[in-house]
Order: sequence, then structure tokens, then C-alpha cells
Amino acid sequence: MIYLDNAATSYPKPDSVITAMVNAQKYIGANPGRGGHKKTVIAGQHLFKTRQAVAELFGAESENVIFTQNCTHSLNVAIKGVLKKGDEVIISSMEHNSVLRPVHKLKMQGIADYSIATVYPEDEEKTLHSFRQAITDKTKLIACTCVSNVFGTRLPIEKIGRLCKENNIIFIADAAQCAGTQKIDIKKCNIDILCAPGHKGLMGPMGTGVMVFNDPSICESLFQGGTGSNSMQPEQPDFPPDSFETGTANLPGIMGLYEGIKFIKKVGGENAISEKEHYLCSILIRELKAIKGVHVYDKMTDINRTNIVPFNIANLHSEQVAELADKSCIALRAGYHCSFLTHSIYSTEKTGIVRVSPGYFNTKKDVNYLINCVNKIAKAHIL
Ligand code: ALA
Repeated sequence: MIYLDNAATSYPKPDSVITAMVNAQKYIGANPGRGGHKKTVIAGQHLFKTRQAVAELFGAESENVIFTQNCTHSLNVAIKGVLKKGDEVIISSMEHNSVLRPVHKLKMQGIADYSIATVYPEDEEKTLHSFRQAITDKTKLIACTCVSNVFGTRLPIEKIGRLCKENNIIFIADAAQCAGTQKIDIKKCNIDILCAPGHKGLMGPMGTGVMVFNDPSICESLFQGGTGSNSMQPEQPDFPPDSFETGTANLPGIMGLYEGIKFIKKVGGENAISEKEHYLCSILIRELKAIKGVHVYDKMTDINRTNIVPFNIANLHSEQVAELADKSCIALRAGYHCSFLTHSIYSTEKTGIVRVSPGYFNTKKDVNYLINCVNKIAKAHIL
């Protein structure tokens, strides 16, 4: 099987990730921060060094890195922990449901209203203008994705961060599609809370995610419970990470995540990975565009294009194309990609899109195999 669905989760994982996960369960096995015996201390040290590795990646302090289950978990805690009754939030027109649904729920509950700033894939300044226009005196928060999971469009995150700073607005960045493949410094980008999955670009296992704060005091924790600290108090500790991390941590996942981050560094960092993926995408864009009946959604400029190539074949439904590709042993994701809003941008509500997302381990041979396959599908289905 040729796996070209890295935007959903990166695969394969480096061997070191799998070894670390097995070792966590086989040789450590204890609950980090619970008790004082040697095994729990070692488990705690592994959590600590992963926290440091994440902090270093995003320019944060290590105690401000919170482990979560996934990016959606991080975004829910961040959005619901920041917004209070009467606040307003601006999201972008390229949001994943992991941002849209929490803000929609808050609106339905009469807590906070939201507005949508239109993203113009071909024009950053126009995108920025739509965010600026959406600001009112009630705007407490801008929560938006760094990169669309459907079209791969990069949003002008640094500029949106500056806009937030100038207007005293909190900025939550959804880094689901770019953590590990794009260098992001939360201070440089004025990001107050960065939310990221561990299992995509960070190369870690599923079931891991992070929230990275600049200052955690802007956000209330949604969960309370055991932390292994201040156990004789009924109140949740008020210091991070314990204020947010409650219940037993995913030690195998977090140890795997550490190795994922180490792997990124070993192969030359985020830029080295994205360069490789861009090279494969440029071949795909060029060759797919040359096939009769294939439409590549490519309004982006080279600056804001990432590692996703979205396309359709004539009037075929995207799911039908992905099924045919699957029969040729190619893994692609088609349909709507949990992103209700985004499809209106290119009017793909009827067919969805076929998404190709190469990863670090893909080769030119893989993308050529896909190009051949698309060629055959197009020839067989277009009169
Ligand atoms: N959010 C992931 C995707 O885009 C799962 O496929």
C-alpha cells in the first residue's frame, strides 16, 4: 500500500517511536508523578524531557506545555477555557470542525458569538483585511488554523498574531497541519495558545496532543482531578502543568512523541521535511494538471502552499476516485475532511475533494505511481 494520507496521520512512524512506546510499557510501566518509587520517578523524567523538547520546538517554557489526547482536545480546552459570557470570537473560513464546532456550541449555549473571516488563498493581505474587519469591541479571541487541512493553504499566522497583539485579542493557533513541518515560534507569532497533535507532523503516536501556552493564566482548565501534587486540597493546583493535566498521563504515547521530535531534528528539522514534501507536491501538481479532466485546486502561491495537493476528476465524486485508488493500493482521503466551512471556497460541497498528502517517507516513485493511476481513472471515466 502506498500511503499518501499524512495529513490525517503520519505513517509510517520512525522505528524509534515504536520502540520507545514498547519500552514505556515493558520496562517502566509506572504512573508518572504518583508516588516516590524509582519507576514513577523515571516515568516523570520522561514526561519532563518530552515537555522540554516540545517547548524548545515552539519557543515556550517547558512548564507551559500541556499534554492532551489530540489537537481537538487541546482546542476545546483552549477555546472554552478562554471565552466567557458575552465574548466574541473570530475564526477563519478554512477551519476544521475542531474549531468550528466548539465555537458553534458556545453560540448555541448563548455564551459567546462567533464570526467568520474569509480566507483568500491567493492574497494574504485580503485575508488579513477580513480578520481586521471582523473585530468588534467584544472580540476576545481569534482562533484559527495555521494551514487548511483540506487545501493545504497556509494562513498568514505572523500577521494575524500581530493584529491580535495590536487589538489586545487572545490568539489560539491550530497547528494541526504544520507542527513539525513548519517552524513556529509562539512568541514571534504572538500566539497565546498553540494547539497541535502529536501524531501528524510531530511523528508521534495517535492519542497524543499538546497545548503550548505563552501565559497559561489566560485560560481556565476544564478538568479537575488527581495530579499527584497538593493531594490534600480540594482545589485543583493553580500552577501549570498540573492545573491542566489531570488523571494518568499517556506515558507510552508521550515517550513515542519524544522520539518523533528527536527524529525531526535528526533529519534536519522542519524545513528539511517540508522541502522534501514540497518537492513531491510540485511533481504532483505539474503532472496532475496535465491530465485531461483533472482539476487541481491550486490558487495558492508558492509561499502559502504546503504539503497537500487537492484535486478532482471531472464530475466524479471524490470518494469514488479514492475508492478506485484504494483498489490500486493507494491510500488517499476524499470527501469533506471534517471541514464543513472550507468547501465553499472552491465550491466543492457536492463532490468533496481528493486529498493527496505526501509525508517524509514517500518517494518520487510513490507519486509517479499515483499519477499513473489518476491517468487511468480519468481515461476510463471521462468520455
Ligand atoms: N484532521 C485530520 C484530517 O484532516 C484527521 O484528515
